Amino acid sequence: MSRILLKNGEVVSSKGTLKIDVLIEDGKIVGFPENEEVEGAEVVDCMDKLILPGVIDPHVHFRDPGATYKEDFESGSRAAVSGGVTTVLDMPNNEPPTTSRKALDAKRALVNGRSFANYGFYIGFDGGNLEEVNEAENIPGVKVYVANSTGDMGVSQENLEELFEKSNKLIVVHAEDEGIIEKNKKKFDGELVAEMHSKIRSPEAAAKAVKYVCELARKYKRPVHIAHVSTEAEVDIIEEYKEDGVTCEVTPHHLHLTEDDYEQWKNFIKVNPPVRSRMEVFSLWKALKTGVIDIIDTDHAPHSLEEKEAGYLDAPAGIPGVEMLLPIFLNTVSSEGLTISELVRLVCERPAEIFGIPNKGRIMEGYDADLVIVDMEIEKKVERKDLLSKAGWSPYEGLMLKGWPIMTIVDGEIVYKDGKVEGQPIGKEVVF
Ligand code: DOR
Ligand code: ZN
Repeated sequence: MSRILLKNGEVVSSKGTLKIDVLIEDGKIVGFPENEEVEGAEVVDCMDKLILPGVIDPHVHFRDPGATYKEDFESGSRAAVSGGVTTVLDMPNNEPPTTSRKALDAKRALVNGRSFANYGFYIGFDGGNLEEVNEAENIPGVKVYVANSTGDMGVSQENLEELFEKSNKLIVVHAEDEGIIEKNKKKFDGELVAEMHSKIRSPEAAAKAVKYVCELARKYKRPVHIAHVSTEAEVDIIEEYKEDGVTCEVTPHHLHLTEDDYEQWKNFIKVNPPVRSRMEVFSLWKALKTGVIDIIDTDHAPHSLEEKEAGYLDAPAGIPGVEMLLPIFLNTVSSEGLTISELVRLVCERPAEIFGIPNKGRIMEGYDADLVIVDMEIEKKVERKDLLSKAGWSPYEGLMLKGWPIMTIVDGEIVYKDGKVEGQPIGKEVVF
């Protein structure tokens, strides 16, 4: 039996912080002993440290199967746990796409025994696989692309409506309007550079698709989760549909990068939906504070350095981020942009609620021992040499961040400590 006692730390929840010891046994949080010794327990001194629930990132692209030179489940999950992320939900735009029960089972077999983090898999909707979607078991939801993005999984409006009418799963939507994007592409003939991406996949394209999807949610009374909002218009629309069960997420890059960053980063920050203006970013921060935005997750979309160095049309869209999520926002806590309790709500508690992940996202008796220990005093620069994702780059390189995870525990086992991922890939598929 494994037994760990986290002593002298401060436990964080959305309600506040509490100085209390945490006892872990056989993968579960079993109690909060008060100044007691516990026989046979490995003691971890957490004096002056915070203990957070393990971060849940419900939007990653680990490229396994299909493009494992960009990332595979082992490298992606190493990166995750090094950043305090203990559960990831992986998107279906693989090769082959995860759009059938057979493909889901093949992915399960492929990933089994290779992940350091716990994980779940979405099924993708391709317009013609409603039965597969409805009969798929143990998934967090069905992912649908309203416009084409990496993987070209865009579906027609008729098919989308059919999904809302007949599916029995949480619908997770990449919402951009293909018609507006195509029209804009024609307008911007001539030399295309990275900056154009934000004009082609315009704020109007995002807002139009979000409005359409919210209307479907209301009409068919279906819960829907809107991925990666990037504009004030989307947030304003979503606010009106909160009572219809509409939830949404925002990424670190949409909160930290703007169109001004194209000058430095060119196609490295080409992403769908694109980075926006400073004003849009400001409004996203506001929506985060007021609670219209439910969660922060990464849309971790690794592409290689060579691919990102290509010209505008050839460079693939996507930004890696899973290992930087917690450090980036701990730094925000240090600079008082967010409180630590708000952060725990945004990256632990709400993701578990929205995606129906039982026994995770909180530090409570009987819950899974997925935890991260944080030192808010460590200041460290983000450097390429320290990154574990196969992408091998980050748009946050060079930033000095205050507040870093120092230990990650998955299912009661220490998997990251002293700057190193250690032990075996013991991650398990989440039971939804
Ligand atoms: O920029 C993006 N990259 N947006 C997506 O929707 C997909 C992702 C990817 O898989 O590369
Ligand atoms: Zn994505």
